[in-house]
Amino acid sequence: MSGDSTPLHSSAVIYEAVQTLRNGGLVAIPAETVYGLAADAKNPDAIKKIFVAKERPSNHPLIVHLAAPDKFDQPQIDWIALLAPWARDVSEDALKLINQFWPGPLTLVFKKDKGVLNELTGGQDTVAIRAPAHPIAIGLLRKFKGGVAAPSANRFGKVSPTSAADVRQEFEGMLGLMVLDGGDCDVGIESTIIDLSSGDKAVLLRPGAITPSEIMAKTGVRVYLPGEIKGDNEKEDLPKVSGSLKAHYAPTTPLRLYAPGRVLDALSEFPDTKSRVAIAVWDSESSLGHDGHPAARFEEVEISSDSVAFASCLYRSLRDLDQQGWDLILFPEPPVGEEWDGVRDRLQRACFGSGPSSSNHDSN
Ligand code: TXA
Ligand code: MG
Repeated sequence: MSGDSTPLHSSAVIYEAVQTLRNGGLVAIPAETVYGLAADAKNPDAIKKIFVAKERPSNHPLIVHLAAPDKFDQPQIDWIALLAPWARDVSEDALKLINQFWPGPLTLVFKKDKGVLNELTGGQDTVAIRAPAHPIAIGLLRKFKGGVAAPSANRFGKVSPTSAADVRQEFEGMLGLMVLDGGDCDVGIESTIIDLSSGDKAVLLRPGAITPSEIMAKTGVRVYLPGEIKGDNEKEDLPKVSGSLKAHYAPTTPLRLYAPGRVLDALSEFPDTKSRVAIAVWDSESSLGHDGHPAARFEEVEISSDSVAFASCLYRSLRDLDQQGWDLILFPEPPVGEEWDGVRDRLQRACFGSGPSSSNHDSN
C-alpha cells in the first residue's frame, strides 16, 4: 500500500469521501475485483469527469454500484426496492442471481428506468448494476445512500488497478484525487457481466470469476454465450462492453502468449539478440530451460496454475513487468476450461493492445 494513501477503515475518511461524491467530485474506491473511479450516478457533471479522467469515449456505459442498507431487523434484503430507481423488468431469474451472488463480482444489465442519465448509459436503453463485496465500498455506498458510477480506475484501454498505489500511478497528474485504500483486490479481474435486458435469455457479456456453470449449479439459470444467441449484439454497433474491444487491459510492453512448450516460436517474432524477455511460467512446471534461444537476456517469473490465484495476480504481474523495461513479455496460454475464460479473455485483449501506443490496433 502506498504511504500517502488514505488509511483503512476510518469513518472520518469515509465521511470525506461521501462529501466529495455529493459535491460532484471523484473518489477512487476499492472493490473486490479491481479499483473503481467513482462518481455520483445521478450527477451528469460528475459522470463527465470520469470520462475526461479516463479519456474514455462517451458512448462506453458505466456500471452503477449499490449497497443494501445495514438493517439488523431485516433478514431478507429488498433488492427490488433498491433497484427500482434504476432498472425495469427485474425478472425472477434476475432475483435468483442477485440473491445468490450479491454482494459479489457479478454485474447485471437491465432495461433502464427513465430517470437513469444518458451520460451514464452512453445513450443505451439499458443499465449495468452491481453490488460490490469490498467492505470499504459497502461502507461508502451505505453512507452515500445512492448509486455510484464506477468504471475501473485506469486510463481507457490500459491495465486495471488492483491496489491504491496503482490508481495513484494511473492518475498521477490528477492532484487531489481521493483514493480509498482497501489493500490488494482479492478477485483481481473485473466482474462477470450478464445481460438480462432482453427479458428471456441471460447472456454473458464479460467472463469473470463467477462462471455460467457456477450460476447454473447454484441458481438453475442458464447463461448463454453471445455466439449461442443468433444475431444478438450484432444488431447495433454501440460498444456494449468496452472490454469487448479487441485491444484492452494492455501494457505498454509487447505481450504475447505461448502455447505449451512453444516459447521459442513466440520468441522468433523478436529475433533481436539484444532483446530482454520476461517469461511467465506455471509454478507447476520446472524451469523451461531456454539455453540457446536468441534472447540475450531473459528471466522466468512464476505464475500460479490455479485459475483463482492466477486472476488475483494477473494485473499486478502485468503492471510490474511493464515497469521493468523488458522488450517482450511472454505468458503461457491459459488452459481450456470455463474457470480460465476470464483470464484468457483479459490476456488475449492485453496482447492485442500491447506495445507503444503508436502500434496499438484498437479496433471494432
Ligand atoms: O468489477 C468491475 O465491474 C469494476 C469495478 C470497479 O466494479 N468495474 C468495471 O467497470 O470493470 P468498467 O467500466 O471498466 O467496465 C464495465 C463494463 C464496460 O465494458 C461497459 O461497456 C459495460 O460494463 N457496461 C456498462 N453498462 C452497460 C450496459 N448498459 N450494457 C452493456 N454493457 C454495459
Ligand atoms: Mg475497465
